[in-house]
Amino acid sequence: MTSSSRRLIDTFGRVHNNLRISVTDRCNIRCFYCMPAGDVQFMPRADLLSFEEIERVVRIGTTLGIDRVRLTGGEPLVRRELPVLVKALSAIDGIRDIGLTTNAVLLGDQAEALKDAGLQRLNISLDALDPEVFKRVTRRDSYDKVIEGISAARDAGFSPIKINAVSIKGLTEDQIIPFAQLARDTDTQVRFIEFMPLDADNQWQKDKVLFASDIIALLEAEFGTLTSVEQTGQAPSSDYTFADGRGRIGVIPSVSQPFCVSCNRFRLTAEGKLRNCLFSLEETDIRSLLRDGGSDDEIADAMIACVQSKAAGHQINSPDYVQPDRPMYSIGG
Ligand code: 5AD
Ligand code: SF4
Repeated sequence: MTSSSRRLIDTFGRVHNNLRISVTDRCNIRCFYCMPAGDVQFMPRADLLSFEEIERVVRIGTTLGIDRVRLTGGEPLVRRELPVLVKALSAIDGIRDIGLTTNAVLLGDQAEALKDAGLQRLNISLDALDPEVFKRVTRRDSYDKVIEGISAARDAGFSPIKINAVSIKGLTEDQIIPFAQLARDTDTQVRFIEFMPLDADNQWQKDKVLFASDIIALLEAEFGTLTSVEQTGQAPSSDYTFADGRGRIGVIPSVSQPFCVSCNRFRLTAEGKLRNCLFSLEETDIRSLLRDGGSDDEIADAMIACVQSKAAGHQINSPDYVQPDRPMYSIGG
């Protein structure tokens, strides 16, 4: 069989067309739910896939049905010359959609170049609109740079601006209403994500999760009853509109109501490991295939095998849950 007639379908019938590519594990901030508090052992640079290697993986992926990619980190904008990669990927036949998930600290300098290179979607990770809360989450003082970055993204023509906010009990409750106000008053889409057990210090506890239901309750207390919006496509978020018809808000209930049944994603880490799930305990090394003369067909086979070994879903809510060795920053969001 030629690779062009093959597809990335797992044993549960889920078709995978969405590849998330981590381009570095480095980051310029230190969110406590992701990075360790102490020194971080980053990957040696020689281990990172080159842009050419990433491009090859994506090109092979398109023959198997990949048509959407998203660049992640660490913080992807700390990887030098990222727009060069964006441009190369957007030139690949079959790629319909290129996104980037960023903390926006470096966006002020790069928004325009990214837009020019063909970047279509931008997701900004920002958990607080209050600079003090921002600092408590990120353990860095970069709030002003983030705001500058968001405004540069707007100026460069990214629209709407999308913000993903991880929600943590006892820390971000008072950020929910200001974020909702921002979503109602400006061209900004805000989605709240439940805190998942992927932190480097193994500090996650279920009672630190600000659940989607808690968030909805906070919003309804302020704005009246929310109305659920019919889902389109495969977005992991559930969206709601406000009673007065102004604005829209999303929640991603990754812990309480995971979207595993309709998952269409898999991941490539910065050092060339394929992962079929954020939470998978096993990975497929394709860097050695890329560097030791593996053929396109062999790489395609590795991708297919990786997707085929995908589990039904994550086990966060089971007593047997085992947290993966890799924290979020080295998986990519
Ligand atoms: N739980 C939920 N979301 C997380 N992210 C990083 N770590 C976690 C976690 N433990 C989010 C980031 C960003 C994306 C890359 O993943 O805030 O939005
Ligand atoms: Fe950096 Fe993203 Fe991890 Fe925050 S969540 S420390 S922005 S990689």
